[in-house]
Amino acid sequence: MKGVILAGGLGTRLMPCTKITNKHLLPVYDRPMVHYPLRCLVNAGIDEVLLVTGGNFAGDFLQLLGNGKEFGLKDLHYTYQEGEGGIADALRLADDFADGGPIAVVLGDNIVERSIKPAVDAYRRQGGGARILLKQVPDPQRFGVPVFDGERIVRIEEKPREPRSHFAVTGIYFYDHQVFDMIGTLKPSDRGELEISDVNNMYLERDQLEWSELTGWWTDAGTWPSLLRASNLVAESGANKSE
Ligand code: G1P
Repeated sequence: MKGVILAGGLGTRLMPCTKITNKHLLPVYDRPMVHYPLRCLVNAGIDEVLLVTGGNFAGDFLQLLGNGKEFGLKDLHYTYQEGEGGIADALRLADDFADGGPIAVVLGDNIVERSIKPAVDAYRRQGGGARILLKQVPDPQRFGVPVFDGERIVRIEEKPREPRSHFAVTGIYFYDHQVFDMIGTLKPSDRGELEISDVNNMYLERDQLEWSELTGWWTDAGTWPSLLRASNLVAESGANKSE
């Protein structure tokens, strides 16, 4: 399975620092944010990765990551998202790279403590469709939130004011080739973006979305409080020492 890291966006919630660099190049404890999703994929046995970035600082990723050998990658590809069309719009650029096969997608500001290998294996056994990873959080209104009927997810609500569960949909997703046709039918949300939650809801409508609960801690790092939290979690757990 190939991997895709989505590292575009303006990072407006981290202004003013994102005026002079890409959000995913900001430090989380002792290294740039993008190192973590990259290592997450490599640790799960995924060694062919596409990095989607955008904005004014795209060239800095090449300087930082080169051809990815240092991380144990077989191949590191790059592409560029024009404009600010959202996560699903960025993912659309991975169509040729995926070449009809399944992909593991990680948002560039998501950091996990433990290996996602069990979820990769579960997705392989699933044999198609989509798989998302959930994590219980104290502030689900900041994320995509699943609505359950027993163990079954009936729908996912994006940043609901009144969350219907305590789970966040983390920024780690597994998709088959259908994802690209689905993205082609999406309409922009109220915030003007193509939402990844709409893609997940389409898989739900087809009864092709499964989920796993992530073990170990998980955090995003796209706001000042979560960036600080990410640095502290990495420093305390020694997650940065797993290379
Ligand atoms: C995005 C997704 C959201 C998901 C989150 C995970 O939100 O839209 O569904 O829960 O990533 O980090 P963002 O924080 O990019 O707005």
